[in-house]
Amino acid sequence: MTTPGQEPEDTGSDVRTAARAGHVLGTNARSEDQVVTAAPDLYPHQWSWDTAFIAIGLAQMDASLAQRNLDALFTGQWANGMVPHIVFDPHARDYFPGPERWGCAALAASAPDQPQTSGICQPPLHAVAAKAVVEAARQQGTAQESSARDWLKGFYPKLVAWHRFLVRERVDPKSGLVMIFHGWESGMDNSPRWDAPYSAVEVGATLPPYQRRDTRHVADPSMRPTDREYDRYLWLVEEAKQAGYDQAVLAESSSFRVGDVFFTAIFAAANEDLADLSELVGAAGGADELRNWARRAREAVQQVADPKTGLTADLDLRTGQKLETETVAGFSPLIAGAPPEMRESLVAELFGPRWAGHPGLRWPLPPSTSPGSVDFRPRSYWRGPVWPCMSWLLSWALRRSGEPDAAEALRLASLKQLEGVDFAEYYEPFTGTPLGSLRQSWTAAVALEWLCGPATSPRQDLERPGL
Ligand code: SER
Repeated sequence: MTTPGQEPEDTGSDVRTAARAGHVLGTNARSEDQVVTAAPDLYPHQWSWDTAFIAIGLAQMDASLAQRNLDALFTGQWANGMVPHIVFDPHARDYFPGPERWGCAALAASAPDQPQTSGICQPPLHAVAAKAVVEAARQQGTAQESSARDWLKGFYPKLVAWHRFLVRERVDPKSGLVMIFHGWESGMDNSPRWDAPYSAVEVGATLPPYQRRDTRHVADPSMRPTDREYDRYLWLVEEAKQAGYDQAVLAESSSFRVGDVFFTAIFAAANEDLADLSELVGAAGGADELRNWARRAREAVQQVADPKTGLTADLDLRTGQKLETETVAGFSPLIAGAPPEMRESLVAELFGPRWAGHPGLRWPLPPSTSPGSVDFRPRSYWRGPVWPCMSWLLSWALRRSGEPDAAEALRLASLKQLEGVDFAEYYEPFTGTPLGSLRQSWTAAVALEWLCGPATSPRQDLERPGL
């Protein structure tokens, strides 16, 4: 078994990658409770959707570790059901904006006193993670399977409360898309998807002064969002505080209100998985309601798809404007589910010259923004680099929607990309240079799933790394 601090042996690329991925998750785990933080320096807390990816990877090693990580995230769940985008570790101080800036416990009746959390949310991949955990436990033996089922009985109602929050507070009645009130909620902070809505956000004179810390943890600050973007991010936090984190007030007053198609697509997939889980825990009537939420989310995604390509747009709910940018979020119907014709067209697009088939790419993987777009910036966070977690999400979606060859192509190209030692947050598409934070947990986690999960036939030579 690999233990933190011990370098794994060099015994072939897949074995080496799996061992190193386990090693990264091990070194990013807190010693006291084995909760894995998003990254060692840049992100020293639990992030919401990162934790879902991390649980999917951990499950391939030890399903109970994955359960512990999901449980830890949900200790931060608000009374209204929201799963906050960050659950803060009180011992990790080097992150901004920290709990003092968010002030959630003081301002929002729903927020827990402990642990301290942020006041916004992120895409709801957690039910997908819970299902992956239960399936992995089944492979690990009768004892693990039975303990995963017991765990699920307690975890399932928390997932339902989270999804119910989104349906009640966040589904835009007109478009059916999930509304977000901050670009951070999309998980794709500075994506060109949000340029138009952000350009209308006026930073107030009352924005309290602040000092960024994120740029200290990357080799080159231009890999991160700009100061001007950060002012807007921080201003939206102030607006949310002024609203007391009241969702209905924000739906009326936030200067950033967008129907997020990618968030909605994940919600569709997560509702399907939660419906499957409801059958497993014997929740009477649960599955029908969840499949109905899934159907509505899926239809909302298909509604904003281009009739020719199937690529989707977001919706600026303040102006009614369709946000037609060329980003990886355009492939949302592949995640939400799409009729065969739309799926075929999207797969062709995905491997075509504007995306993974672009001739200059180091590996045939979709960049976060198309290299053919005027908005493309190859080194800047969500404006161009390839994010392995996104390649994983697409390959997972393709695998389950009956496109195994396309899924396998992404898996194999990604494993080539991850052969190095870095497990970077994102990669420059043309040179393959690792960028952003290194030893990023979700990158290591998706590598483990690709190597040890259901996409691969069991391999005797792949030792399951341990924390
Ligand atoms: N992704 C944001 C950050 O970079 C916040 O969630 O800190």
